[in-house]
Amino acid sequence: MNSRKRLEELRLLLSEHSYRYYVLDAPTISDGEYDRFFQELLEIEKKHPDWVTPDSPSLRVGGTPLDKFDQVEHRMPMLSLENAFDDQDLHAFEDRLLRFLLQDDPPGYMAEPKLDGLAVELVYEEGLLVQGSTRGDGTVGEDITAQLRTVSSIPLRLRNTTVQRLEVRGEVFMDRKGLDALNRQRTAVGEPLFANPRNAAAGSLRQLDPAITAQRPLRFFVYGVSEPLLTGCLNQGELLDFLAGLGLPVNSHVRFCPDMAAVISRFSELASLRHELAYEIDGMVVKVNDFSLQNRLGSKARAPRWAIACKFPAIQATTRIMDVEFQVGRTGAVTPVAILDPVDVGGATVSRATLHNSDEIERKDLHTGDTVLIQRAGDVIPEIVKAVVEKRDGSEQPIIMPDSCPVCSHALVKPEGEAVTRCLNPHCPAQRLRSLAHFCSKAGLDIEGLGKKSVEQLFELQLIRDLPDIFLLQKEDLASLEGWGERSAENVLAAARQARIPSLSRFLAALGIRYVGEVTASLLERSFHSLERLIEATVDDLLEVEGLGDQAANSIVDYFSDSSVQEMFDRFKEAGVHPLIAKPMEEKLLLSGEVFLFTGSLKQLSRTEAKKLVKDNGGQIASGVTKKLTCLVVGEKPGSKLKKAQDMGKKVLTEEEFLLLLASA
Ligand code: IVH
Repeated sequence: MNSRKRLEELRLLLSEHSYRYYVLDAPTISDGEYDRFFQELLEIEKKHPDWVTPDSPSLRVGGTPLDKFDQVEHRMPMLSLENAFDDQDLHAFEDRLLRFLLQDDPPGYMAEPKLDGLAVELVYEEGLLVQGSTRGDGTVGEDITAQLRTVSSIPLRLRNTTVQRLEVRGEVFMDRKGLDALNRQRTAVGEPLFANPRNAAAGSLRQLDPAITAQRPLRFFVYGVSEPLLTGCLNQGELLDFLAGLGLPVNSHVRFCPDMAAVISRFSELASLRHELAYEIDGMVVKVNDFSLQNRLGSKARAPRWAIACKFPAIQATTRIMDVEFQVGRTGAVTPVAILDPVDVGGATVSRATLHNSDEIERKDLHTGDTVLIQRAGDVIPEIVKAVVEKRDGSEQPIIMPDSCPVCSHALVKPEGEAVTRCLNPHCPAQRLRSLAHFCSKAGLDIEGLGKKSVEQLFELQLIRDLPDIFLLQKEDLASLEGWGERSAENVLAAARQARIPSLSRFLAALGIRYVGEVTASLLERSFHSLERLIEATVDDLLEVEGLGDQAANSIVDYFSDSSVQEMFDRFKEAGVHPLIAKPMEEKLLLSGEVFLFTGSLKQLSRTEAKKLVKDNGGQIASGVTKKLTCLVVGEKPGSKLKKAQDMGKKVLTEEEFLLLLASA
């Protein structure tokens, strides 16, 4: 047989056996036989690298490492779920549904185990897995296609290819055995352990090198698609059958429940079953079964009205408050934090817990030295439920909020009617450090390599004092520092360079203006489109924005009218930081109809970034200086393309002009 034909045969053979092994859990050949087929395939592919197809089982071992994760916009948002903690919450959920649907009869539900892992989207085109991404913020996630291809139970090709495009959603997780084995390995090499399956799954998928992901024992269960009605299925039960028919792994513990009583009894069944499962679940997801009802119910901002997550009750433990520390946050809020005698709560060691504020301490009547009941509910941060008063021996000390800032000694204030005690010194080093850390963090501009620790180090050395300093760092400043080197210095500078052109909403959220989080920042971007317009906005202008309240409006105006903020923005400009809006909401995008080409070396942008900016703004990229081309952007040493474009009378822009053009959006 010719080797091309054999390769095709091996591909089919391996994919069938991997399906039997990983999805059906019913292998029909031995591991040894499987390995032999696999080796044979690898050998043929090695001789003929151009024969490797996107569904080749060899991709399971991981490919070339990436420099960074690209962003992926989900065509339909990936929502999250509201939580129910008891039967009462479930009944309230049903009452809301019935009221909304104007009906009295229960609609019928699917009850599914809630897997404790990471939500992902897999896109299949003509049956072939073409993209996989994380949920991200629900709208934009990270492209982890290569990483997801290494997860054995994710089919690289569906068993039925009649569907043109299918966006499936599900959970990647690590089962108990896998997590234990991985943690044992990590102990052996002195690496920190993963506290739970979710962290393990997330940490494994967010590896730039997919070969590392391939080593991790990840699993996958599918639980939905982006647009169920397009599948022709009428309800969730049918959909899960349909997905299983395509070769996707569906959890076997899903059950149809005709009414809430059945849901509640299934919940207690699952609660006792959970310890026998090979993987951890943290609750049960209840979904209205019928898709036309789901459609009528629709969604709120972040979660659908037709589903809810019932969480298993929290795990509790008792320990002692040894001491209390006072932390100063980025808005000056002083938060008391209890230092606990470390205790294991359902597998995680807890040694600190926030006490929130003085009102909360008073309400719970907590003292230093108290024995306290603490609890951890699923992914929620551990909290102190109450003091065990019977255990007191008189040695306990009241917890008193300090009068002055523990960091800058400025007097603290607790405004009438507010729970929070605050340091109002805008120059308080603690606040500045926290703002810097927030600015660089994932919630901010996500500058890789500038985590909390590094920011702290650079702040202490006074290499960064204010936000714009981050963009003015020099390689020599960093390379010689303890724990750094040429390579990490270069990486951080590159990451900072890349972060200089964030979307306006991301930039606003990163600034850490009080009351302006991710959601408000998006509202502002959509309404104002440019930083300049936002800076000029009055409180009244801001109040016109749907969803924006008094407090946020005032806080924004106060922020931008502060002269030190204005100086900071001047310095941002000098450092080449220009927030952009990727997609203006006007119907016609800024670069619609334009065809761009880049030539020469660009100083501020990488080629990939430059091309992405063009595409995000509605333009296209040309393959060369062709008739179609409308604009050539030239960097340094442009070469022959410039002359050709000029001869053809095409528009020519410098990199600065190109950025200015985009900034005008
Ligand atoms: S349905 C709109 N089904 O729970 C529907 N989610 O907060 C959203 N999860 O991000 C998801 N098992 O990662 C659904 N059987 C299941 C699930 C499940 C786990 C996770 C998922 C989601 C989170 C919801």
